Amino acid sequence: MKRKRSAVSPARLPAREVALEQFRLLLDPAEFSRLLAELERPLYPSLRLNLLKVAPGAMADLSKKYGWQVENVPFCAAGWWVKEARQPISQTIEHRLGQYYIQDAASMLPVELFDLYDSPFPLILDMAASPGGKTTHLVDRTGDCGLVIANDSSKSRITALRLVLKTWGAVGAAITCFPGERFGDWFPETFDRILLDAPCSMQGLRSTENHPMRPITGRERDSLADRQSRLLASAFRALKTGGQVVYSTCTLTPEENEGVLESLLQHYPNSVQVVDLSHRLPLPSPALRAAGELTFSPQIGGAARLWPHIYGTAGFFAALLVKTAPVESVSSSPPFRAWRASGLVELPRSERDSLARLLLDGYGFDLITLLESFDWLLYRRAEVVYALPHRLVVDFSSLPFVSVGLQVGEYSPSGFILSHEWAARFEKNCPAGRFSIPTERIEAWQRGEDLHDIQTPATQPGKIVLVQDEMGNYLGRGRALSDRLKNLLPARVVL
Ligand SMILES: C[S@@+](CC[C@H](N)C(=O)[O-])C[C@H]1O[C@@H](n2cnc3c(N)ncnc32)[C@H](O)[C@@H]1O
Repeated sequence: MKRKRSAVSPARLPAREVALEQFRLLLDPAEFSRLLAELERPLYPSLRLNLLKVAPGAMADLSKKYGWQVENVPFCAAGWWVKEARQPISQTIEHRLGQYYIQDAASMLPVELFDLYDSPFPLILDMAASPGGKTTHLVDRTGDCGLVIANDSSKSRITALRLVLKTWGAVGAAITCFPGERFGDWFPETFDRILLDAPCSMQGLRSTENHPMRPITGRERDSLADRQSRLLASAFRALKTGGQVVYSTCTLTPEENEGVLESLLQHYPNSVQVVDLSHRLPLPSPALRAAGELTFSPQIGGAARLWPHIYGTAGFFAALLVKTAPVESVSSSPPFRAWRASGLVELPRSERDSLARLLLDGYGFDLITLLESFDWLLYRRAEVVYALPHRLVVDFSSLPFVSVGLQVGEYSPSGFILSHEWAARFEKNCPAGRFSIPTERIEAWQRGEDLHDIQTPATQPGKIVLVQDEMGNYLGRGRALSDRLKNLLPARVVL
C-alpha cells in the first residue's frame, strides 16, 4: 500500500509557520485569525527620541523635514512608528548624531515599566545589554542622573554596545563583560533596578534584521529557558529589597517566558511579586495561565505577552517583578582591578577650572554647573578628558570595566578639541562658538565634504565650531580655517 504523503515536514516549513503551529493552541480561534491577519500587514519601522538631546516635540519637525507620517507608540511617549517616509529613518543626520534610536516598538516596553520616580540617582544593572537599545532607554529615563552598568557576556558584542552608548551621549554608564549569572553572588542586594532582556529563541513571529527567525528544537528552547532562569535568579539576588527587575524576551514560547517566571517563584516563593500590568497598558495583553501541560501561578498572568496583533508589533514578553523580601545568596568576591590600571587620573581642580573657563569663553558652556548638578567628575587618560559618574568611582572603582562615561575632548597643540560625542550631546548648552551654513551647502556638508568659498569666523583660525543650519539645528563640528570650513564629521556619521 502506498503511504500517504504527509504535509510538508516541519523541518522544511519556514520558521514562522512552524512557530505558528505551536502557538495556535494558545489562542482562541478568533484571536488566532486576528494574529494571522496581522502577520499579513507590514511591520512599520519605529524610533525612540533621545530626550537627552531633543525635546519631545522634535518629532513634529522631523516629520515635516522628511515627509514622515507618524503614530505614537501607545506605551512609550518618546516612541514613534513611521508609517510613510520620503526619507528612510536610517538615512538622516539626526539619526547619525544620536537624536533618535531605531528600535522595534515592542522593545520600548520593558524600560517603560520601571518606576523611577522614587530614586533620583538610581543604580541600575542592564544584565544582557548589547547592542544597547534598552540601555539608551534606561539612561534616557533617568535623565542620565543615575549609574547604569551595561553588561554583556559576549566580547564580540561589546563594540556595538560602546558605539551605541557613545552615539547616544550617555555619561552615566559603564560597560562590563561578564556572565550575568555571576552578579547575584558578586553584588547581592545592590541594585535599585535591573533589566534582564534575556537571550532567547527569537520566536517573535516577525523576522527583522535584528531579530531573524529560525526554527528551534525543543532542546534548544529548554536550554535557553534554563539559562534564562539562572540569569533571572542572579538578577533577583543582585536586586535590593524593594527594588524592581524587568524580565523581557522577544520570543513567544511559554517555556522562556511564563515558565521562567514560574521557576523564579518556586525558587524564592516569599520574595517575588509579579506586578499586574493590566492597568498600565492601554490594551489587555495578559500572560498565559497555562500552556499545554504547563500551568502557571495566577500572579504570572499580570505580566504582558505582546502577541503581534495586539499593538502591531513583533511578538514580545515583559514582566515587572518586585523583590519583597531579601533572599539568600552565596556571596563571592567580584573580579578586581586596581583603578590605576585604567590609566584614568582625576583632573586636578586647577586644570578642571581652566578647562571650564576655556569652554565658557569659547562656547558659553557652563561645565562646572553641569558637573555639579549631575555629580560627574572629570578624569584624564593621556591627553583625553572624560566625564564619568562619581558613583562609579565610589562604589565600583575596582570593577574591571571596558569603558565608562563620555569623552569631553582632548588637549592638542592647537588647543582643546571638544569631542564629537560631547558636542552632539551638549550643543544646546552652547550659545556661542556656532557657525551657520547656508541651506544649499548642507547636502555637501552631510556627505562629509569641506566647505570652500565660505566666510568662516575669522576670530580664531583653527577653532572648532559647532556647525548649524540657518534654523540653528546642529550639524556636527567643523574647524574654521582661513580658506575653508574643515568637516569633522566622523565617517560613521556622514550620509
Ligand atoms: C536580547 S539580546 C539583548 C538586547 C539588548 N538588551 C538591546 O536592547 O539592545 C541578549 C544579549 O544577551 C547576551 N548574553 C547571552 N548570554 C549571556 C549571559 N550569560 N550573561 C550576560 N549576557 C548574555 C547576548 O550576548 C546578547 O547580547
